[in-house]
Amino acid sequence: MNAKEVFNTSLLGGIEVKNRFIRSATNDPNAENFIPNKAIFNKYEDLSKGEVGTIIMGYMAFSKSDHYAGNSLELGADTVAEFKKVTDMAHGYGTKMVAQINHASTQLYFQPEGTVYGPSEYTDPMNGIKATAFSKEQIQEFVKEFGQAAAYAKEAGFDGVQIHGAHGYMLNKFMSPLYNQRTDEYGGDVNGRMKIVLDILSEIKSTCGKNYPVWIKLSSTDFEVDNKGLNEKEFLVIGEQLAANGIDAIEVSGGSMAGIHSSARSKKYAAYHLDAAKKLSEKVDTPIILVGGLRDLDEMNNILSETKIEAFSMSRALVRESDLVKRWKNGDGTKAKCIACNSCFNPNGIECFFNLSKEKQQEYREMMQAQS
Ligand SMILES: Cc1cc2nc3c(=O)[nH]c(=O)nc-3n(C[C@H](O)[C@H](O)[C@H](O)COP(=O)(O)O)c2cc1C
Repeated sequence: MNAKEVFNTSLLGGIEVKNRFIRSATNDPNAENFIPNKAIFNKYEDLSKGEVGTIIMGYMAFSKSDHYAGNSLELGADTVAEFKKVTDMAHGYGTKMVAQINHASTQLYFQPEGTVYGPSEYTDPMNGIKATAFSKEQIQEFVKEFGQAAAYAKEAGFDGVQIHGAHGYMLNKFMSPLYNQRTDEYGGDVNGRMKIVLDILSEIKSTCGKNYPVWIKLSSTDFEVDNKGLNEKEFLVIGEQLAANGIDAIEVSGGSMAGIHSSARSKKYAAYHLDAAKKLSEKVDTPIILVGGLRDLDEMNNILSETKIEAFSMSRALVRESDLVKRWKNGDGTKAKCIACNSCFNPNGIECFFNLSKEKQQEYREMMQAQS
């Protein structure tokens, strides 16, 4: 008999959580000096008050080889104390916090000055940015930087870290046969292409201790043209290898900026990574977290009772309703209000269009018109 319940306390990927709802990593493009400002702090407080079990703080930069602006969050010696204020606050509400660590590689919205690194030389179809291949020494340095970033996250009170291995960023590009043309041990077959991720996992465990939870977000496929990118068959191999090497939880996502499908699809898609997540859950004992298009509590209850999937991660639904989990817990089980219009991708700060004042909605429309 399956006794899993969405609202029961459980040990999820090494973290004691109060329910199985996770706020999926959602970046905060309005940070100031690499740290959460008051607006960001308030947003996390609203989510914590809204009974979200675990919040994955999105897209935290860390590497000197990455190009990011002062309005990105950055894990570093100078920023630890500021992140600690957020984790302390969340813990006060019984909400757990995970830091998502990422390197953009070529997936940028601007052409930066200086060299942009990737696994090999390529031109990113998303923006025409050219990548220069990391040398082997640079890979080793990058792995060390990853471990150090995780150590900062631990010091800042995060209950665990999530390696961003999805959505077309650096590690996803390493795993993809389309972008990784290396001929050394970090390229070739899927085992070579994922070696960097296993090295990072082992580096974090040795830096933070073997019991410090390390999660990963993986793309089940990139949906690149002609399926030439990472495909589901290789994703399953990657998931199995990570499980065998001690990853604590795997969030199953997919898509990239250059692919046919983005990671955040429109309304007609519901639970769109369910098949892939289910397949992986049947191959490993590591907890599998499903993300993408989850809006319906009944659907999640069914998935929980009929599959080995352990938890549910949501981004846009919680941008619109930070109190969604609390609402469901209190008995109003109607579907999330999010209509997946993707207007929350607002460069001024991630906010639901429908939660903006009339004036701000107009400003947003004008900004989008100017950009088109
Ligand atoms: C505004 C916005 C920002 C996002 N930022 C990140 C991010 O920093 N890291 C990440 O892994 N995914 C990011 N995502 C993707 C979400 O985590 C999630 O995978 C995707 O939106 C599908 O889930 P949903 O249907 O619940 O929104 C972002 C999505 C949105 C809408």
